[in-house]
Amino acid sequence: MNSETNKRARRKNEHIQLAIDHPGASSSDFDDVRFVHQSIPCIDVDQVFLSSMVGSLTFDHPLYINAMTGGSSRAGKINEKLAIVARETNIAMAVGSMHAALKDDTLSESYTIVRAQNPQGIIFSNVGADVSVELALKAVEMIKADALQIHVNAPQELIMPEGNRQFSSWLSTIEEIVKQVEVPVIVKEVGFGMSQETFSQLRHIGVNIVDVSGRGGTDFIHIENERRSLKEMTYLTGWGQSTVVSLLEARSSPDFDVLASGGIRHPLDAVKCYALGAKAVGMSRTMLLLIEEQGVEGAIQYIESFKEQLTIIAAMLNARNLQELKERPIVFSPELLSWQEQRGLQ
Ligand code: FNR
Repeated sequence: MNSETNKRARRKNEHIQLAIDHPGASSSDFDDVRFVHQSIPCIDVDQVFLSSMVGSLTFDHPLYINAMTGGSSRAGKINEKLAIVARETNIAMAVGSMHAALKDDTLSESYTIVRAQNPQGIIFSNVGADVSVELALKAVEMIKADALQIHVNAPQELIMPEGNRQFSSWLSTIEEIVKQVEVPVIVKEVGFGMSQETFSQLRHIGVNIVDVSGRGGTDFIHIENERRSLKEMTYLTGWGQSTVVSLLEARSSPDFDVLASGGIRHPLDAVKCYALGAKAVGMSRTMLLLIEEQGVEGAIQYIESFKEQLTIIAAMLNARNLQELKERPIVFSPELLSWQEQRGLQ
């Protein structure tokens, strides 16, 4: 292994450990969104079907394991376990950033293991917005991906002393990748959320699927500060829009397929995402903790129970599908209302 590869593998392992040790946010914007209880549902539980279309892909369940890792031997083992969970529960899964394997072929197995374990499943490749079109194509090909996630993580890069400092070509790079890659492209945040201005930039370059990945769960400002000896930028912890706020920002962009991730604590948070327009909901840190603490079996049970609870809550809301969930009345806290007003959102 060369020293660059070593450094990268060390960083991956630190991210995994720091995410596991992450204290988590103390409050959540999901608590600022309330459903209105109705006493007389007019449907049966077995009439609820929560399948979803994301671009040209059909998700049997509106859930996915979101991007985390790859590029070290610990990461490869985690990816293998996650892939088995995804296969057994029939949900989609993203691998973590593939730059390591794109530059060093010896690391590709920590990613290809995901396709080997789940030949039929929906799997996303993952690259950053600074990758060449050629490498983006290679990332898709390497795991026969059904879609390509391009992560945008400027605050994380800026906090990392070794991080990227050049962002001026991001938009044109994404545009080029969208033109050349044949699978759907998902532009995703990494826990800082998105805005209507971002949607507008992305719309102009032909992107139509986003993962808003908002504040409220894994916080890379916290993680990167923990990796520095001088933790001098901890005051930036909590930067960005929450997942709820990002979904409100996305409501003025009905032309996007919106995926939601960031701080999903339980199935009710997920149902709130669907009601706010999300086509599917992703979880990262929760899945990592499950795999580490309860193993593959525990993670499978968790997802199966999660799916069942989604159905129960939908029935409680008298909704047979995601479209009907979107039509259910919701009440916002004064803080969320104020954000909507100040941002001119409906
Ligand atoms: C991540 N995330 C991430 N995202 C991405 O697009 N590429 C990546 O390589 C990684 N790496 C990564 C490592 C670890 C250990 C974690 C926990 C997360 C971000 C992730 O996909 C997601 O956007 C955020 O973690 C928010 O979701 P949760 O963790 O709050 O469910």
